[in-house]
Amino acid sequence: MPVTLRSFAKINLGLRIGVLRTDGFHELRTVYQTIALHDVIRVSVGRGSGIEIRCEDLRVPKDESNTCYRIVERAMVTLKARGRVVIEIEKRLPVQGGLGGASANAVAALLGLERALKNELPGPERLRIAAEVGSDLSLFLVGGTVLGVGRGEDVYPVPDLPAMPCVVATPEIGVSTPKAFADWDLRVARGPLGPRKLTLPPASDRMVQFGRVLSAWLCGDSQSKHKSGRASSGVPVSKGRGRAGNPLLDLVRTGIENDFERVVFPQYPALLEVKRVLEGAGAVYASLSGSGSATYGLFKSREAALKAAARLRKDGIPATATTTLTRPQYWKKIFD
Ligand code: C5P
Repeated sequence: MPVTLRSFAKINLGLRIGVLRTDGFHELRTVYQTIALHDVIRVSVGRGSGIEIRCEDLRVPKDESNTCYRIVERAMVTLKARGRVVIEIEKRLPVQGGLGGASANAVAALLGLERALKNELPGPERLRIAAEVGSDLSLFLVGGTVLGVGRGEDVYPVPDLPAMPCVVATPEIGVSTPKAFADWDLRVARGPLGPRKLTLPPASDRMVQFGRVLSAWLCGDSQSKHKSGRASSGVPVSKGRGRAGNPLLDLVRTGIENDFERVVFPQYPALLEVKRVLEGAGAVYASLSGSGSATYGLFKSREAALKAAARLRKDGIPATATTTLTRPQYWKKIFD
């Protein structure tokens, strides 16, 4: 019997791009958030050897370049396991799109493999293998609201945002992530400051700060603000405004913005238009996810989210109303 599991997507609640490192990657600072949209992965281990990827979607590679293949290959070696591994991917998420679909598939394949073998890798080994395969796999080993630093693979759980209605628009535009990074470098090199250095506060501070700022603004929790206009995290926020004020402005002020928008929107104005539609439909926060083209909005009510998704679809843009997933929900629903 194959092990069947859900492979949930993520969105980025803000993303800052830092310096280009000597290894060719950029320093990143982002908050990942898992959402309920998902693919389905089936993993089985039988007699023989090798790894087989099955997927009806022609755009998904079936060879050793597939992230599922790469992670399972490493895990089999580390676990000293034998057998023929078959991974079936039922694609429901867009293949290219800022939702971390391929990365999530890989982590689900790893978790499914462990269950099929009845043998688990220690947590640090899982994280090491995930980071070897790609920058945004590790977050799926944490789930919920996750701070990502380093090249995005260095992940820390932060206090979960409560589950919120969310609309994910997936316009049929393929944005190349390496090109978006290169465009960012060009933009920065032409700017007055040169490459930005991301100076990070100590680990504990940066974890707590990001999570609290987000929670405070997205939950509209006025309790968390001091009269001095600072969130409990110590990060400045504008006075007297909860979610009912201008959260976008407040989020931007507190640093929760996605740098990729600066290079992707000018090239694909249709994506900016999607963001504007989401905002116009009442999103408390809307943004490009990763380098796109997925663009999402967070909403106060399921009803508002359903309306916004319908509005986008009327304009010919694929859009789905879903919800964000807290860490406990994420782990519960993976094997449900
Ligand atoms: O790690 P991942 O395979 O997702 O990265 C894809 C590409 O995106 C990298 O080869 C690199 O060009 C770019 N990238 C980057 N900085 C990061 C993450 C990715 O420049 N932090």
